[in-house]
Amino acid sequence: MCGIVGYIGKRDAYPIILNGLKRLEYRGYDSAGIALYDGKNIQLCKTKGKVADLELKVTNEMSTIGNLGIGHTRWATHGEPNDVNSHPHYSNSGDLVIIHNGIIENYAALKKELINRGYTFYSDTDTEVLVNLIEDIKKNENVKLGKAVQVALNQVVGAYAIALFDKNKPDEIVVAKLGSPLAIGIGDNEFFVASDASPFIEFTNNAIYLEDEEMAIIRLGRDIEIRKVKDDSIVAPYIQELQLNLEQIEKGGYEHFMLKEIYEQPSVIKDTYRGRLLADKGIIRLGGLEDYIEKFINADRIIIVACGTSWHAGLVAEYIFEDWARIPVEVEYASEFRYRNPIITENDVVIAISQSGETADTLAAIKLAKEKGAFVYGICNVVGSTISRATHSGTYTHAGPEIGVASTKAFTTQITVLTLIALKLAKIKGTISQSNYMLHLRELDLIPSKVEAALKKNDEIEKIAKIFKDATNFLYLGRGYNFPVALEGALKLKEISYIHAEGYPAAEMKHGPIALIDEHMPIVVIAVNSNHYEKVVSNIQEIKSRKGKIIAVVTEGDTIVREMADYIMEVPNTPETLSPLVTTIPLQLLSYHIALMLDRNVDQPRNLAKAVTVE
Ligand code: F6R
Repeated sequence: MCGIVGYIGKRDAYPIILNGLKRLEYRGYDSAGIALYDGKNIQLCKTKGKVADLELKVTNEMSTIGNLGIGHTRWATHGEPNDVNSHPHYSNSGDLVIIHNGIIENYAALKKELINRGYTFYSDTDTEVLVNLIEDIKKNENVKLGKAVQVALNQVVGAYAIALFDKNKPDEIVVAKLGSPLAIGIGDNEFFVASDASPFIEFTNNAIYLEDEEMAIIRLGRDIEIRKVKDDSIVAPYIQELQLNLEQIEKGGYEHFMLKEIYEQPSVIKDTYRGRLLADKGIIRLGGLEDYIEKFINADRIIIVACGTSWHAGLVAEYIFEDWARIPVEVEYASEFRYRNPIITENDVVIAISQSGETADTLAAIKLAKEKGAFVYGICNVVGSTISRATHSGTYTHAGPEIGVASTKAFTTQITVLTLIALKLAKIKGTISQSNYMLHLRELDLIPSKVEAALKKNDEIEKIAKIFKDATNFLYLGRGYNFPVALEGALKLKEISYIHAEGYPAAEMKHGPIALIDEHMPIVVIAVNSNHYEKVVSNIQEIKSRKGKIIAVVTEGDTIVREMADYIMEVPNTPETLSPLVTTIPLQLLSYHIALMLDRNVDQPRNLAKAVTVE
C-alpha cells in the first residue's frame, strides 16, 4: 500500500518521479504528491486523487526544475485521503521532506511528546510525526540527517519504507525500510528509489533491495552507505542484476493490465512449470523443495496461510494435496490464524501463498509459525519480496509483474506450483498410481493450450456480460475442486464491478442462499465434467425451478447442461483435478467485461490496493 519513488542525479527529477508514480499507482491511488529540489527551493505539490490529477495540478501550480525529487501515491491509513494528508510531508522548519509507505503504530504517543515540545501538526498522518521526530533529534542531538533518522527509527514501532531529504543537503537522500519494500536503482552517479524496480527499469538494471531494519544514505559522488538501524553497523551493499524489462510492465496493446494479464496466462503457466516439469520423463524438479522433501513427507499436517485470491488457490491445494499426497491440509485466512492462538507444532509444514510477497497478515502468520517451530514454505510471485525472504524455502511463480489490482495470472500460476508440489509428494509417498501420475504430468503440460482455447470464447462471454451487467447480485456455485473457483469468480466480480456476488459450494445452496433465487438472480454454475457432474445438474434443476438465470461453465461438447442453462461458457475437457486452471478463465473475462461496461476503473478498483501491507 502506497508507492514511493525518488531520484537524485543529473537528470530532471520530475518526469522520472511522475512516470514512476504512474507505474506504482497499483499500490494505492487515493492521493498523490511530489517534492522537487533544485538546490535552492523546494517545490511541493500534492492532491487527493490519482497521479493524473497530480500531473494537472503540477502543470498549473509549480515549476518542475530540480535534480532531486521524491513522490508518493497513497492508500490512506491515517486520515482521510485529502490534500493535506497526502505525502510528501514537511517538518516544521520546512527543511526536511519525507515520503512514507507503512504505519507508525506508536505515532500518537510520539505526537503528544512533540506537541509538548512545541511542534505543530497540520495533517492527521503518522508520517508527519516521523519527520518531526527526525527533525527534533537532528536539532537537539546536533547530529547529521542519517544519524537522526537512525535514532528516530529506533523509537518507532510499526512498518516503513521512507525516503527523505534535507534542504541543507542538496546532494543526499536518506532511505530506510522495515516491512514495506524499498529498492535502490544504481546508475552512473545517479540513484533511484522506489517501492519496486518498475520506476527505474529503463535507466538501470542494477539495484539494491534493502533488508528490513536497514537504512541507506545516498549521496551524489559517493558510494551508497548502508547501515543497520538497530546498531548503526555498516552493511556491504549487495547489488543485483534485475531480470525485469519494460515490456513486462506496459500494457502491450491491451486496454487494461487486467486484460493483458488474463491473456498472459497460457505463457506464464508454462513459464511457471518450464524446467520444473519434464512430462515425458515423469520428472518434477522444484529447486526450493528438493532439500525439504522429508519435512513434507513426514508432516503431520500442512497448514496453508494466505489472503484473498491466494487463499482461494490454497483451497484448491487442499483438494489436490489430500487427494494425491494424503497429507491432511488446513487452509487458514492469515488474518485469523495469527490472532487465534493456533496449535502449531514442529511437525507441521506451513505454506504461505502471496502474489506480492508483502501482505502483512500473511507475513505475521509466517512469523508466528516460525516461532512455534514449524517449517515454512513460501509461494510468491515477486522475487526478493519480504515473504519470500521470511520463509525457510519456497518456489516462485513465474507470472511476471501483476499490475491489475484484481489478481488473475497469480491465481493460476499459484495453482500450477501447488499442483507440481502435490504431484511430487504423492509420487514419493506412493499415494498416486504411476499411470495417474503420468497422466497428470501430461495433462498439466496441455493446460496452456486449454487456457488459450478458453480465452477464444471471449466474444461470447462479452455478450453474456452485456445481458447481466445491470444485475445487482450474483451467485457463484461450484463443487469439489471448483468450489474455490466459485469463490474466486465471485471475488473477481465484486472487487472490480462493485456488484454484490457470493460464492458457495453448490450443495450448500439449499441451506440458505436458495432463498435469494428469483427470476432476477444470475447464478454462475461451474458444471464441467467431474465426479460431481450429476449432482451439479441436480443443483441446476433446483435453480431452474425457482426461475434463476443460469450461466454455466461447461465442458466443450456438453449436451445436458447446455439444454438446461440460459447461457453457457465452454472450456476444454480437463481432468477435474486440474480444471480450476481453465474454469477460472471465463469467470475472469465475465468480471472484466461487466466492470468495463459499468465504466469501472478495472485496473484500480475503488478502496483497494495491490499490496496490503497493513493489517
Ligand atoms: C483479489 C486480490 C486480493 C489478493 C490478496 C492477497 O483479486 O488481489 O484478494 O489476492 O490481497 O494478496 P497477496 O497474494 O499479494 O498476498
